[in-house]
Amino acid sequence: MTDKNPEKIRKMFDEIAARYDFINGIISFGTHKRGKKQTIRDLPPLPENAEILDLCTGTGDLAYFLKSRGRVTGLDFSQNMLAAARKKVPEADFILGDCTKLPFKDNSFDLVTIGFGLRNIENPDRAIEEIARVLKPDGIFMHLDFSKNNPLGDFVFDMVVPFLVQIFYPNTVPYKYLIESKQEFFHPAELAVRFEPYGLKCIKQKFYACGMMCASVYRFVK
Ligand SMILES: C[S@@+](CC[C@H](N)C(=O)[O-])C[C@H]1O[C@@H](n2cnc3c(N)ncnc32)[C@H](O)[C@@H]1O
Repeated sequence: MTDKNPEKIRKMFDEIAARYDFINGIISFGTHKRGKKQTIRDLPPLPENAEILDLCTGTGDLAYFLKSRGRVTGLDFSQNMLAAARKKVPEADFILGDCTKLPFKDNSFDLVTIGFGLRNIENPDRAIEEIARVLKPDGIFMHLDFSKNNPLGDFVFDMVVPFLVQIFYPNTVPYKYLIESKQEFFHPAELAVRFEPYGLKCIKQKFYACGMMCASVYRFVK
């Protein structure tokens, strides 16, 4: 099992923050931005002036695409990732915090998103419990991550990515971690039912970036 000690994870992201966007562009052949944009476009309609929370917001890619859908708050525990997000999306509020202890009142958000984040959390159920707590009744939760067991995605991640990373990024530890954590994470079919005990009913799953990314969309039934 990959070591997901929160302090280690936070340090890892603090260290790679300055190059995170650049490396992501290289290893995904630019597809990650397009995929992220499409997942936000495909979200169900939201109320006017929707309150939106983007967890594990990182350098703010999802927050950037979400800003046209309502008032966006991004949360992350890496100060350096947040610094990049603040530059990218000055319109959003960014808060330093932990997904497993959210600093928000119950029933605060119409939409909560998490992109490429839950996989890094030692206790994902604790984060999901918090997401359910801060969602308004009927609110939407969107989980986005790499899609496991897709033959093209697996080939790219297991063979092409390590090769590219060695060329562009000699310290391969964070990207070895990425590949291992991806291999261990829930399959999309598991994700479809995994959060039902928390009132999160999966209403849609869609694949993006040639099947390499999967967005699972849930409605919160209180
Ligand atoms: C792979 S990045 C994803 C960033 C962004 N969502 C994206 O789509 O590019 C994962 C982010 O999750 C953050 N993170 C991991 N565990 C966290 C936790 N328990 N609480 C808050 N942030 C966390 C890391 O600091 C990092 O910025």
